Amino acid sequence: MYILAPSILSADFSDLKNQIRYIEMGKADWVHCDVMDGNFVPNLTFGPLLVEALNKITNLPLDVHLMILKPENYIEEFVKAGADYITIHQEAVTHLNRTLREIKDFGVKAGVSINPSTPLSLLENIFDEIDLLLLMTVNPGFGGQKFIESALSKICSAREIKEKNNYKFLIEVDGGIGIDNIEKCLDAGAEVFVAGAAIFKNENITARTLELKNKLIEFNDRKRKEK
Ligand code: DX5
Ligand code: ZN
Repeated sequence: MYILAPSILSADFSDLKNQIRYIEMGKADWVHCDVMDGNFVPNLTFGPLLVEALNKITNLPLDVHLMILKPENYIEEFVKAGADYITIHQEAVTHLNRTLREIKDFGVKAGVSINPSTPLSLLENIFDEIDLLLLMTVNPGFGGQKFIESALSKICSAREIKEKNNYKFLIEVDGGIGIDNIEKCLDAGAEVFVAGAAIFKNENITARTLELKNKLIEFNDRKRKEK
């Protein structure tokens, strides 16, 4: 299963309802919501109010990526807003296990994210608790940055760990993903693909969404035939 999750960070917020329609017509699977607090990352974006608004305008699952310090203080608000996945950063929380449990106790899928410089080994005791492993492929904070190539080997290692241990988490990649490198990420073992600028910074948002989605479908067909 391969999932395309457009990030609304690069969307035109004055036209949000239509922008969501465009990605729905392009067969997007999830909507990725980048929440930033100006502390954990230099940028400041939006909070639960916007997630709540999105929940009213789309039935697509809402993939909420919290780039905020002390995420434990806001879990309930994002749950009430309609988040389907809540991902917190390992670097931003003191009690990672406790906060992941809290998310799951609300009946929401729990994810953990790590920055490009954070090793996978720091997560070895929580791999069996998570639904989503979000590997940052840029330093978090802004849309439209360049993909960090060294992230590819981390994606491969994550896939190896997942398969060896039969873990259920999905491997998500986020940052600088586009038509030129999505295949490299698929080959490395990623399963969920966030794309912001590659989709929204274009005249035809639906066409760009479909183009990326087709790469995922083609790869899936190829893998099925190989079996
Ligand atoms: C980066 C965010 C990403 C970002 C992706 O801090 O977490 O979700 O918006 O945007 P692009 O695809 O433009 O790098
Ligand atoms: Zn993100």
